Amino acid sequence: MTDISHQKLLIIDFGSQVTQLIARRLRELNVYCEIHPFNRVDDAFLADFAPLAVILSGGPSSVFADGAPMPPASVFTLGVPVLGICYGQQVMMHCLGGRVERGHGTAEFGRAFVAPKGARPAFLSGWFEGEREQVWMSHGDHVSALAPGFEVYGTSPNAPFAITADLERNFYAVQFHPEVHHTPNGARFYENFTRLAGFTGDWTMGAYREEAIRKIRDQVGDAKVICGLSGGVDSSVAAVLIHEAIGDQLTCVFVDHGLLRLGEADEVVKMFRDHYNMPLIHADEQELFLGALDGQSDPETKRKIIGGLFIDVFQKHAGEVGGAKFLAQGTLYPDVIESVSFSGGPSVTIKSHHNVGGLPEKMGLQLVEPLRELFKDEVRALGRELGLPASFIGRHPFPGPGLAIRCPGEITREKLEILRKADAVYIDQIRKHGLYDEIWQAFVAILPVRTVGVMGDGRTYDFACALRAVTSVDGMTADYYPFSHEFLGETATRIINEVQGINRVTYDITSKPPGTIEWE
Ligand code: XMP
Repeated sequence: MTDISHQKLLIIDFGSQVTQLIARRLRELNVYCEIHPFNRVDDAFLADFAPLAVILSGGPSSVFADGAPMPPASVFTLGVPVLGICYGQQVMMHCLGGRVERGHGTAEFGRAFVAPKGARPAFLSGWFEGEREQVWMSHGDHVSALAPGFEVYGTSPNAPFAITADLERNFYAVQFHPEVHHTPNGARFYENFTRLAGFTGDWTMGAYREEAIRKIRDQVGDAKVICGLSGGVDSSVAAVLIHEAIGDQLTCVFVDHGLLRLGEADEVVKMFRDHYNMPLIHADEQELFLGALDGQSDPETKRKIIGGLFIDVFQKHAGEVGGAKFLAQGTLYPDVIESVSFSGGPSVTIKSHHNVGGLPEKMGLQLVEPLRELFKDEVRALGRELGLPASFIGRHPFPGPGLAIRCPGEITREKLEILRKADAVYIDQIRKHGLYDEIWQAFVAILPVRTVGVMGDGRTYDFACALRAVTSVDGMTADYYPFSHEFLGETATRIINEVQGINRVTYDITSKPPGTIEWE
């Protein structure tokens, strides 16, 4: 659990697909919250966490199931407001003396309209101003009798107990999901709940920055810290924050594996060394990586070679710092949340993601992870707060294995050169058309195939490339970006004219799933 001085809200997770969205909505209201799985929350945890309010999430289970997930009983005697959502509502009724009925195979799923019933209490302020509210339902079982003290404040044709509350005890229970996009007035619902609970909205980036700096100083003392800098937003923000806290006790290691984009190494090194005045080791290891990748064409082999070498190189250079006790990482909150698995089975490895996992144990280092409580957009906000240039903060994500996974098949220096140039033209086009910020990620992949073309009066036999551009919220799912035909035509012409070695350009219109964002 995190040691913090903000007002705190606890979300007890029962495994809903959308629990993270509750946290997002609350953070947008400047309310600090943490998600913890139900099986990790007991009476002692609750007393220690000392939340100002508790939310019981939805979940796929049934209160009738053997070993149905339940919160500790003390949730209802803490004396703080409690909100139950969907399965959370059923749990509340089950625990407090109401009745839940099995769905008998009839589930309600999707859009529904809730109408007001009875009085309009403060927790529904701003609701029902136009007669009814659109909400999003997703449940099998349903509540059939309320627990003592509860009243109904909203109903829908299929959910007579859509909105219920015991105003005396500050218990609120709803059948629908206020956190999803399809409940358009959901943010207002959470705002009412948190204001009633006494939250003042004290979770701001300014406050976070100060607190994080204090915590880093407490944790690190006068020891040395090393940080692997990739040039991506997360590690950059972490480095700048830590540098602000402990100055030159921090040394960054930037590994150039020869798989970076045009001008990228210079840009990153210049910014951190010259602008931020940070001690920075620029490890030029291009020969080592490209040598090891020579002749390799299997995607997983390529990834493993790069991941393994990265650790070796990082370790070698970190050793030069001498006596470092800590390793800084840009780990984010979504990586930390322990999700509740009801399937229990291991998930299939689609790709071996490249990171410095395993390093801390191997090198006997402790971790400094100042972004562990933040979502990606909060990291960007913190970056702005720390004065990082907007152009840097808004950069598209770039994968650890770099251009290697955008060069299907064998990697050669010739192909990498061509790819860098084509990618630079493509990104330039996107920026010129004002589309960069609308797109989650855009890049060129060079294909392992040569095709015949004609330029001027001559025959060409050059590489084909694929342009990729996607929209996404978190990289887990993605849609291809709907460029205009004019844009695509103009970009293809520019690439073929300006980049020697490419004579054919295609546009990848695969979404994820079934595709992945990168080509390997
Ligand atoms: P995929 O290709 O799996 O990518 O749909 C999803 C997002 O993750 C990035 N990506 C990586 N990032 N190390 C990283 O740091 C990796 O090994 C890696 N592989 C993919 C990818 O660029 C996209 O944003």
